[in-house]
Amino acid sequence: MEVVIMPSGTEVGLLAARKITRLVGARPDAVLGLATGSSPLAIYAALAAHVREGTLDTSRVSAFALDEYVGIPADHPESYASVIDREVTVPLHLDPERVQVPDGRATDLEAAGRRYEEAIRAAGGVDLQILGIGANGHVGFNEPTSSFASRTRIKTLTERTRADNARFFASPDEVPTHCLTQGLGTIMDARSLLLVAQGSQKAAAVAAAVEGPVTSMCPASILQHHPHATVMVDEAAAADLQLADYYRWTYAHKPAWQQF
Ligand code: F6R
Repeated sequence: MEVVIMPSGTEVGLLAARKITRLVGARPDAVLGLATGSSPLAIYAALAAHVREGTLDTSRVSAFALDEYVGIPADHPESYASVIDREVTVPLHLDPERVQVPDGRATDLEAAGRRYEEAIRAAGGVDLQILGIGANGHVGFNEPTSSFASRTRIKTLTERTRADNARFFASPDEVPTHCLTQGLGTIMDARSLLLVAQGSQKAAAVAAAVEGPVTSMCPASILQHHPHATVMVDEAAAADLQLADYYRWTYAHKPAWQQF
């Protein structure tokens, strides 16, 4: 996979947004995969700036969120449906009809998972999937030991993930225990993957994903098997990478035709 180390999280966001803007320029009806949480916020802010400046036309773009909590109402401000609407659909001027989030409120969650898979297939698959990474190596909410072949389904959140996400809720007890998440198999079907991480709390997970063995104990390590996976991190998240100097040199000497 390609690893790019930027001086700051803001620069990670700007570079990632440039890559996405180029993709949409070349393919105006691109299908984007959206992550929630803090990691992609700088990307969405930078993309919104492109839209305001007229350098990005999103009118034909479609999008699929990675996951949704189970057990909170859709209009809860921290449901991922609300977050995607607030952070992505509105500021990026996406057509709400073209933005989908797994239905965490479905009475039949298994069927909701199947419907989501079908909707992604019907849209022609995801062109570029944006990913964050959990401190335990999860992508989407595929917690450690998730099957590499998994599809959209219900998962139980680990206590670590619930504690990490407690900052979004009034109290830790309010963090849902379950979610509906794209599987690792679903994520791996995307034509390209773009994982972003910022901050020292992600350093160990990033190193395990990029340089460690491919193991379901670090679900993000499956990205090593993807033909087009890019990992963009800030210096703090890159701190545990053994080959950091190599990645820096490689990026600094990237030929012009290959640049983002
Ligand atoms: C969110 C998601 C998760 C987050 C991960 C990191 O849709 O799928 O995998 O990307 O938990 O969260 P942050 O970015 O808040 O540190």
